[in-house]
Amino acid sequence: MTRQFARIQTELPGPKAKELLERRHAAVPHGSGYGVPTFAESAKGALIKDVDGNQFIDFAGAIGVINVGHSHDEIVNALHDQVDKFIHTGFNVMMYDSYIELSERIAALAPGSFDKKVMFFNSGAEAVENAVKIAKKYTGRKSIVSFSGGFHGRTLMGMSLTGKIHPYKYEYGPFAPEIYHAPFPYHYRRPEEMSKKAYNDFVLKQIENFFITEVDPKLVAAFVMEPVQGESGFIVPDKEFVQGVYDLCKKHGILFIADEIQTGFGRTGKYFAMEHYGVEPDLITISKSMAAGIPISGVIGREEVMDSANAGELGGTYNGSPLGCRAGLAVLDVMENENLNERAENIGETVLKHFEKMYDRFEVIGDYRGLGAMCALEFVEDRNTKEPAKKVTGQVLQAAHKRGLIALKAGMHDNVVRLLMPLVITDEQLEEGLTILEEAIEEVMAEVKA
Ligand SMILES: Cc1ncc(COP(=O)(O)O)c(C=O)c1O
Repeated sequence: MTRQFARIQTELPGPKAKELLERRHAAVPHGSGYGVPTFAESAKGALIKDVDGNQFIDFAGAIGVINVGHSHDEIVNALHDQVDKFIHTGFNVMMYDSYIELSERIAALAPGSFDKKVMFFNSGAEAVENAVKIAKKYTGRKSIVSFSGGFHGRTLMGMSLTGKIHPYKYEYGPFAPEIYHAPFPYHYRRPEEMSKKAYNDFVLKQIENFFITEVDPKLVAAFVMEPVQGESGFIVPDKEFVQGVYDLCKKHGILFIADEIQTGFGRTGKYFAMEHYGVEPDLITISKSMAAGIPISGVIGREEVMDSANAGELGGTYNGSPLGCRAGLAVLDVMENENLNERAENIGETVLKHFEKMYDRFEVIGDYRGLGAMCALEFVEDRNTKEPAKKVTGQVLQAAHKRGLIALKAGMHDNVVRLLMPLVITDEQLEEGLTILEEAIEEVMAEVKA
């Protein structure tokens, strides 16, 4: 197929990237990983050019940061305007109006028919950390429950809440105390004889038993749940399960924290993925796509919960920076003006149609799934045993990169390809990217058979 967008004119890495890679390996520790062995030169919309002139279609969006596309004019203009006025005064020293406006607009969009307040931080992990602090302060309780397979960041609290050992926790203990991991339904891997409903009931029952065997619910400040588990391979729970957990929280006076860091800002076809489940989280953490690449995060919550901390107990030097707030306001304008929630839904439909075709063609695909434009393919050695095909997944991604498509790995067993393309991607770019993904699978499967 002739390519209109993905143009790879050197081997990967190209000559300039090779030189930079050598310097990178000498100067930057291994702990910071990378997906594609090259370096960005420029990016616009859903396309990234590297330093050797290769052009890629971006199905990764910096891991879900770039829903409004790379360097959207409205974001760039807002940032230029802010830089010309002032860069930083510190919201905890001299305040600025963009912080207030962003809080108001985000509170108005977030689910929950109650008064809300919003506070900003820098990174996703920091938002999670603060949501936990707020929940502890409000409830006076010390224990937190998160879910196996969940991901909440790399700080001590984020890592402690995370329910995946490699590469996030191994050899980094001891972890923060009083954190418990509850089971999370993974429908593709549920016992075959169980119906969806029976499985949801079973996992909910396990959580009730968990209150007998692991932690008394009276001691639990909050449950922290991703509406769709991201790092673990886009595992989408059923509404019944999410509502069941929410009801348990209400029954025991436990706060429900939705970690929307990867799912938020249009990814699933809604501003907040929790809207799909009809629950009203007490606290919501946000980051990533809220500011199109400018580091900022936030906690949204019930007014009385958010107000439980005293002045100075929450915050930090760079929290809710002027650049982050201006970018955040521009993101909301773009989402509204360009109907990005609706666009996410039709991207998701197109992707799932292609995935269905790929599933019919390639036995190695065990499952395909998604919510809005948060779609993934799960690779298995055998459709009956569902043994994870980790090696093939890595090979498919490499073959895609060589053809000019950037996509990401995920999954509890590292056997999932997840797609987080900018929602401003054109239909033609989307089609070309999906064709490349299919060709990459075809190439790898031909090699495996040979
Ligand atoms: C659901 C979720 N929570 C928390 C985080 C941590 O965010 P950060 O990497 O900005 O600290 C991430 C990052 O991938 C995430 O996906």
